[in-house]
Amino acid sequence: MELISNPTSDEIKKAAKALKDGHLVAFPTETVYGLGADATNEKAVSRIYSVKGRPTDHPLIVHISSINQLEKWAIEIPEYAIKLAQEFWPGPMTLILKRSELAKDFITGNQVNVGVRVPVHPVALELLSEFKKLGGLGIAAPSANRFGAVSPTSGFDVQEEIGNYLDNTDQILDGGKSLVGIESTIINCLSDTPVVLRPGFVTLEDIASIAGFDVKMVGSTNAIKAPGMLPAHYSPRAKVVTQGLAIQGEGFLALASIKTPEGAIRLASPLTVDQFAKQLYESLRSADHIGLTKVVVVPPDGNGLAMAIRERLNKAAKS
Ligand code: TXA
Ligand code: MG
Repeated sequence: MELISNPTSDEIKKAAKALKDGHLVAFPTETVYGLGADATNEKAVSRIYSVKGRPTDHPLIVHISSINQLEKWAIEIPEYAIKLAQEFWPGPMTLILKRSELAKDFITGNQVNVGVRVPVHPVALELLSEFKKLGGLGIAAPSANRFGAVSPTSGFDVQEEIGNYLDNTDQILDGGKSLVGIESTIINCLSDTPVVLRPGFVTLEDIASIAGFDVKMVGSTNAIKAPGMLPAHYSPRAKVVTQGLAIQGEGFLALASIKTPEGAIRLASPLTVDQFAKQLYESLRSADHIGLTKVVVVPPDGNGLAMAIRERLNKAAKS
């Protein structure tokens, strides 16, 4: 496995070729790092599952280079979904739509729906466009962590998470720290109005204003199978709690305005909710590096991204 920092255009071309040849390429996106494979290559996609240790009936998001590729993967796309795609792509939003012939069971976990996203990170976009030039139709990519673990937000995180499971023909493209820091907003577009399955940087309010509908959010009890939607997820080895005060030797994460309890180990002091999201997974990872057994997090208040942070924290706290 090769870790390539700040890849040049040439290196991105080679990575696209590696994908086309059936190898795995982990790459940066603005949300978290993805572990990519050619979404039409069953054998390559099956390696994603073994590298992640992920059950095979959990669906993968297909990443495409632009909205123009959407109709290759999805059919009967509602008008509001087109509006959302026009507004928020490229960007941190995934749409769940009725699948086309191209989206096989090995991508959708045997469901009749497919998740599609156009990421905005320049390395991801260049990789997708080089892949397309080679005849590629889409890159399947879950977050590049072992199943149930914290999503990686840097190339080094990816190496730490799955480096030992990759082959020497696989690659990791390192494009710096992920700017958003938590996974994309997932919107189910299968009914008359959009339903948010996983909150993220694109907020319920954002979606409502573009789609022109009230937007619902469903919890982890929904019928659609989605691992990010299992109650326990995004977990570091350290125990995460969102209530009570940190004591001597425990990790602590809160907005900068909140004082560190005496003796606690401050993991980050984000000034804003955006910074909180960006530093969340990095902080949980650093807790494990230091060998902390417990991290106390004070979740940010409010709607929008703050809600997405609380959702991740609740899941991290469940295991
Ligand atoms: O930000 C992101 O979405 C990142 C980057 C790499 O794009 N990807 C990501 O993938 O978070 P993953 O597999 O770790 O989480 C995607 C979630 C999973 O919970 C999956 O089950 C759900 O999306 N999903 C994918 N396809 C789906 C489908 N057809 N129906 C319902 N849920 C789906
Ligand atoms: Mg994931």
